[in-house]
Amino acid sequence: MENTTSEKVPAGLSRIDGRMKVTGGAKYSAEYQVAGVTYGVLVGSTITSGSIKALDTKKAESAPGVLSVITYLNAPKIPGYQTDKPSPKGPFKIFYDNKIYFNGQPVALVIADTFERALFAASLVKATYNVATFQTNLKSNLSSGVSPRNGKDYVKGSEDAYKTAPVKVEQEYSIPTEVHNPMELGATIARWDAADKLTIYTKTQGVKSAQRSIAQAFNLQPDNVHVTAPFVGGAFGSALRTWPHEIAAALAAQVVKKPVKLVLSRADMFTSIGYRPQAWQKISLGATADGKLVGITHEATAQTSAYEDFTEGVVNISQLMYACPNVNTKYRIVSLNVNTPTPMRGPGEATGAFALESAMDELAYALNIDPIELRMRNYADTDPQTGKPYSSKFLNDAYKLGADAIGWSKRNPKPGMVMENGWLAGYGMAAGMFGAYRGSATVVARLLADGTLHIETAVTDIGPGTGTAMTTIASEVMGISSDKINFKLGDSNMPPSPTQGGSSVTATVGSAVSDACNQLKEKLKELNGNSESASSGYAQILQQHNLPQLEVTVTSKGGPELGKYAMYSWSVHFIKVLVNPATGVVKIDKGLSVADAGKIVSPKTARSQMIGGSIMGAGMALMEEAVIDHRYGRLVNNNFADYHVPVQADIPQIEALFVNKPDPYLNPMGSKGMGEIATIGVAAAVANAVFNATGKRVRDLPITPDKLV
Ligand code: MOS
Repeated sequence: MENTTSEKVPAGLSRIDGRMKVTGGAKYSAEYQVAGVTYGVLVGSTITSGSIKALDTKKAESAPGVLSVITYLNAPKIPGYQTDKPSPKGPFKIFYDNKIYFNGQPVALVIADTFERALFAASLVKATYNVATFQTNLKSNLSSGVSPRNGKDYVKGSEDAYKTAPVKVEQEYSIPTEVHNPMELGATIARWDAADKLTIYTKTQGVKSAQRSIAQAFNLQPDNVHVTAPFVGGAFGSALRTWPHEIAAALAAQVVKKPVKLVLSRADMFTSIGYRPQAWQKISLGATADGKLVGITHEATAQTSAYEDFTEGVVNISQLMYACPNVNTKYRIVSLNVNTPTPMRGPGEATGAFALESAMDELAYALNIDPIELRMRNYADTDPQTGKPYSSKFLNDAYKLGADAIGWSKRNPKPGMVMENGWLAGYGMAAGMFGAYRGSATVVARLLADGTLHIETAVTDIGPGTGTAMTTIASEVMGISSDKINFKLGDSNMPPSPTQGGSSVTATVGSAVSDACNQLKEKLKELNGNSESASSGYAQILQQHNLPQLEVTVTSKGGPELGKYAMYSWSVHFIKVLVNPATGVVKIDKGLSVADAGKIVSPKTARSQMIGGSIMGAGMALMEEAVIDHRYGRLVNNNFADYHVPVQADIPQIEALFVNKPDPYLNPMGSKGMGEIATIGVAAAVANAVFNATGKRVRDLPITPDKLV
């Protein structure tokens, strides 16, 4: 396989935990050796809607090694479940009653002394059901979409103004359900250390949020719940919330009075932890003949579960991306007999950008204007939704940087014209955006008399390289070399930090690290008779004052500037595809993503994150689709053989470039988030490239060969 990327790897710190991760030194939740641990295996419902009539657990209970079989009939009451508001809609309550809302819903948990014995006994649990009718098909239930609670339709200017424009594009787009499918399975080990004290090793994007929700469920003091997750093997949003299986592990440990390990199976990963919901969209664009947008109308309908409303900003991007006097959006959700969706990388925007950025490409062809030129003619200089100035926006630089690097000017704008070695070749581009956030984080920073710096905070790292970025920031502020810095994370006993999500961690935690390092420098200066010291002198200053260490605890959050500006990160994705005219197979031949993500803090991990996001977008565009057989309401491809994610052979050279201009307002580093914009827009860029190659517009993801022949 062609691989010329290595020479382009930028300077900067290599992943500080890379060696541990590739040599097995990094421990993931399921890998902790906990004395006396027992094993839980879930039994899922084989029906899709109705109720449990009877549960026969006798055989399972008497199987070798089995300690308990927990069902709604014998499960101890979970305090948090009882005190919930009496709303009919809310998070799924495991082993709460006999109601069945979706296929695969846990109906029993078998605990045994070994995993194999638990797995075997789980096969012996027999449930009988009262079967009710069910709906799992979004497409046939679009008309039952409802506006989510308090959800007002958005109207700026006049509604459906596109109708008055001389040039119009009106098209429908759809995406299937996509499942995060991180490498690491959901896994929890729960151990009660006392009647009111719990230790949890669990796969989570937030040890503090997990601590809070588990404490709430079991009515414990948060400090009495110790949550550990120093390594997370990918998550993409799937571990943002605490899921029922995590509660079940703690419940089971209470029942058997031993630690319980519960690892989801790959099939469970499709029904126990959420997914990007299937969505139907319609985009209507109206423009003048010279390509100025007159009106944008964006309608979206997405699925949610029968027991809980899940909403996300599918239509937001149409309110935010372009300068257009008239914009209206509608968002609806349809309750189906499925488990609740959850955010997945670029939540909402990735779905919306596929539709909007495909439609913009269609408009470019209708107007015979270059797609980048069309976007530049509708470039927003202030936030179209609020009128606020941007804290920073260098999307125009990103277009130019990317167009030059990919050779956009050489693209043949006429579809279906270019052959390369018997394959149709085409180029496409699309843009993405996502809010640039900053929350609150507390870090403790300790400079020891040996000159080493130790920083701790309870953030998690789901893979982007948080420790590497934080070490880089500390190294730059303090002037201490990175090998003398030890950054620790992933433990609820550490100072509070946010959940890793929403592309906000570098901005949030990095600010706290930066502030803490500056405070340390101030203290060192005071000790040094108010004169600055070179970093080589830090140890000496401590030794002179007989100080074993210098420690600061700093909480950092943004000020009023956060409300004054519209803060967004931006991306542009360029894709070259090759399409086989006989088989319809689409190969991505080249990818290039350009980000305006402010100043790049950690160049190597940033590049890796952008490339990873692009690969995820390629999966969304070409292969990922969770398929339900609507006769039974059951997933048919809940495994890695049938649910395809991109592998090495699917992905050629993909490159990432950065505008790398600091945002003056979001945080001291000048950085903006990057995790979401890496994926948002990629699927449209692929679809647009496929159109350029073939003249066929695929508006239904994924773009499988059958849609092209
Ligand atoms: Mo992300 S969907 O905020 O983990």
